[in-house]
Amino acid sequence: MSRTSQWPLEPPPETLERWTVAAAEALRTAVPGLSSGSASGVVGAEAWARAAELSPPIGEAPLPGGLDDALRIIDQTAALALNTTGPGYLAYVPGGGLYAAALAALLGDGYNRFTGLAAAAPGFARLESDVLVWLAGELGYEATAAGLFTTGGSMANFGAIVTARHHHLGDTGDYRDVAFYTTDQAHRCVGKAARLAGLPTRSHRVVPVDRALRLDPRRLDDAIREDLADGRRPFLVVASAGTTNTGAVDPLDEIGEVCAAHGLWLHVDGAYGGCFALCAEGRARLGGLARADSIAIDPHKGLFLPYGLGALFVRDGARLRAAHAETAAYLQDLADPDPLAVPSPSDYGPELSRDFRGLRLWLPLMLHGAAPFRAAAAEKLALAQRFREALRALSVEVPVEPELSVVAFRAPRRRGEPLAAWNARNQALLDGINRRGRVFLSSTTLPTEDGDALTLRICVLSYKTHAEQIDACVEDLRAALGDPDVAL
Ligand SMILES: Cc1ncc(COP(=O)(O)O)c(C=O)c1O
Repeated sequence: MSRTSQWPLEPPPETLERWTVAAAEALRTAVPGLSSGSASGVVGAEAWARAAELSPPIGEAPLPGGLDDALRIIDQTAALALNTTGPGYLAYVPGGGLYAAALAALLGDGYNRFTGLAAAAPGFARLESDVLVWLAGELGYEATAAGLFTTGGSMANFGAIVTARHHHLGDTGDYRDVAFYTTDQAHRCVGKAARLAGLPTRSHRVVPVDRALRLDPRRLDDAIREDLADGRRPFLVVASAGTTNTGAVDPLDEIGEVCAAHGLWLHVDGAYGGCFALCAEGRARLGGLARADSIAIDPHKGLFLPYGLGALFVRDGARLRAAHAETAAYLQDLADPDPLAVPSPSDYGPELSRDFRGLRLWLPLMLHGAAPFRAAAAEKLALAQRFREALRALSVEVPVEPELSVVAFRAPRRRGEPLAAWNARNQALLDGINRRGRVFLSSTTLPTEDGDALTLRICVLSYKTHAEQIDACVEDLRAALGDPDVAL
């Protein structure tokens, strides 16, 4: 009996090689194809029906055609998706997809070292720590900061809230009278994270925004004072460095002043906008970022990686550790007093076992260097301004001036037009642009005097999006505006 048939989970090296070559061959055609398909991709009823057809039963035996069958299924099911990595994808927050990071995932999983505890894999732990230290410096933090790679921005925000809670409130579990502050423009994951961190819903205070949809520091100060007068315990402000809706950057310096005056923790959700700190233009727009107690960023957005990499940084790293470190007798052999030892991820977040996710950023940085990331960040900001200028010529309304790479816009309201009719016209505008298939946009609602107005937005964040796609978007917008159902 051959070794393979006796131990089928231990295929021989020839099989591993054949599989790897076949997977590489599949990706060789699939990955370039992601840039050329329709900007939107295929979702909805048609996609669900096809998905049900394609998914094979889980059997006791392998697929008859082995990896060839599996690769065919993967390729066909991958087509049933929003084309989030395409150059014309300007909806929501576009995904990246740098191939070097995919390769890193394969290599990290292939070597499969245990990276939850640094002492179990000092080599890999050092590579990951190098990237975190570099990123912390890019955000303006000093060497006393600590960082952790998470699976995304939601988990990074969660870690920040847990850390702020631990630092300010301890772990008594009695959070009845506490208060934390955001605006109504904060990402939905912030409220969810607070709930998961055990904070009661009523502790969430929504601070009014200014006309640019940024947190109003004066109103924040008022809200904190009121809560203190009512005997509450304010402890945390979550500000945004780039909201998902409009890319608004809260006035971080002024918010920092208010937090310092009252002794509150300032967390900045930079999941969308934080990585713009890599370029001078972005840094100028993120003034005050480094005074935050903690910052969440999302390399799978602003550093163009495939999904699965967020990061949390805490200015006083000891606080992140204090909220998460645990000991266990069964891990005592891995205590490591070496002066060159780097921190263990499991002492800085909820997970023990984890993938070697730092490699997914380390390898792209090694293969491309940091410079192209800085240039791409600056390019995205410039492309948003290019689009904004084009809107001026089209007399389209821009309710909020873009600060980063999100541009919100809509057909202006006609005199006396009911809100519902105005919204219907903007829905027709969105449909008209998307129908052409060159770019794909999404919408949101923004508050107006008599209700929420449907507003289109582009978010320029793919490394593949260049002037060509922005100009196509402008052309398609101009054409859609010619539709009598939309016309200004
Ligand atoms: C501002 C902001 N915060 C948090 C998140 C959540 O990040 P993730 O989807 O990586 O969990 C997003 C996602 O778009 C975001 O835009």
